[in-house]
Amino acid sequence: PGTYAFTGARQAGVVTPAQDRLYLAAFDVTTDSRDELVALLRRWTTIAARLTQGLPAGPFGAASGPYDAPPDDTGEAADLPPAGLTLTFGFGRSLFVGTPAPDGTPGTDRFGLADRLPGGLVALPHFPADALDPARSDGDLVVQACADDPQVAVHAIRNLSRAAFGAATIRWTQLGYGRTSSTTTAQRTPRNLFGFKDGTANVKAEEPDALDEHVWVPASAADDDTADGVDSAWLTGGTYLVARRIRMLVETWDRTSLREQEALVGRNKGEGAPLSGGTEFTEPDFAATGRADAPLIATNSHVRLAHPDQNDGVRMLRRGYNFTDGNDSLGRLDAGLFFLAFVRDPRTHYVPMQNRLSGQDGLMEYLQHTGSGLFAVPPGVPDGALVLGPDGT
Ligand code: HEM
Repeated sequence: PGTYAFTGARQAGVVTPAQDRLYLAAFDVTTDSRDELVALLRRWTTIAARLTQGLPAGPFGAASGPYDAPPDDTGEAADLPPAGLTLTFGFGRSLFVGTPAPDGTPGTDRFGLADRLPGGLVALPHFPADALDPARSDGDLVVQACADDPQVAVHAIRNLSRAAFGAATIRWTQLGYGRTSSTTTAQRTPRNLFGFKDGTANVKAEEPDALDEHVWVPASAADDDTADGVDSAWLTGGTYLVARRIRMLVETWDRTSLREQEALVGRNKGEGAPLSGGTEFTEPDFAATGRADAPLIATNSHVRLAHPDQNDGVRMLRRGYNFTDGNDSLGRLDAGLFFLAFVRDPRTHYVPMQNRLSGQDGLMEYLQHTGSGLFAVPPGVPDGALVLGPDGT
């Protein structure tokens, strides 16, 4: 559909069918006042509810209202449909406990939130071969805007950023295109910039049990926290968002044989079938062997190392996008996968898998992780909690 409800038990933008375009922004909160932070989140809530319904950011819109004041909407989406816009909000660890100094001195809890820090909102470890740029990493707040029109997604972030003036500034952003995952069985599987189908074995919206087991934060997670004086019950029914900007060295990849490409992924390039045989949705058979008893799905292949069989049964809901941010001084594309995944606890559902992949995945020769963020994504704004008047205010 062209419009998704903003309110509901969950935030939109997780199991909502992945739109074609992404604009994601991480913010630093610049005020030290808890009241101003609360006021910002309230403003954002109202504006997000309006924008997702195709309304301008403010009641007057771009071209009416007081003539001697700046318009309350920037205007570039005025004639565009909502294009399936979803806005998904999350909180970084630094919002709760500040940012530690390089010498390890703990950060400051500016807003009195340390006793609300959810257990899974950890400082991610340094993974093998990480080449993270601090200017593309972390942040106190995150907003994921997804839409089928990039102008609609950018308009949303621009107007939210404008409403944040004096309270928060943009730390980094990422534009993405060509969703690299399917989140419902109704979507065909898209391809990443290596040319392979991506999202085949994703957790899909039609699997409520798997979502409960792997994506939504259970009430029991808050009980664990309460034991040590922290109460994160507010995150029950929410999720965590892992963001990794992964540069793909496409020029090197493009000089690699088809045989090698398929061996590194563990699936064929044409239809995405596992190398153990069958079609796209056939389960991979990791025990199957070929000539000289070599496994048909290589031990260093991405699919083997990322499969639940190798990861204590964990799965994740991947919702990433391709990106191309110009080129470097050698004329190589600065392109890759902006990996986004929603998980119920990064400690069990992300960190061990990333360690395994960064250390053993044959694809790593062609990859470089250049940005990183981890955010707690609260559940939705309940229906009825936000009443928009006839003009949407
Ligand atoms: C599967 C590519 C990074 C986790 C796949 C597949 C491809 C792929 C082609 C097979 C199709 C599918 O089931 O979706 C890539 C590329 C990456 C990348 C090009 C980097 C640029 C990651 C990262 C993680 C990850 C960082 C997690 C830490 C997974 C998982 C699966 C998967 C869980 C499904 C495995 C299964 O159940 O069979 N990926 N991936 N991928 N990938 Fe990645």
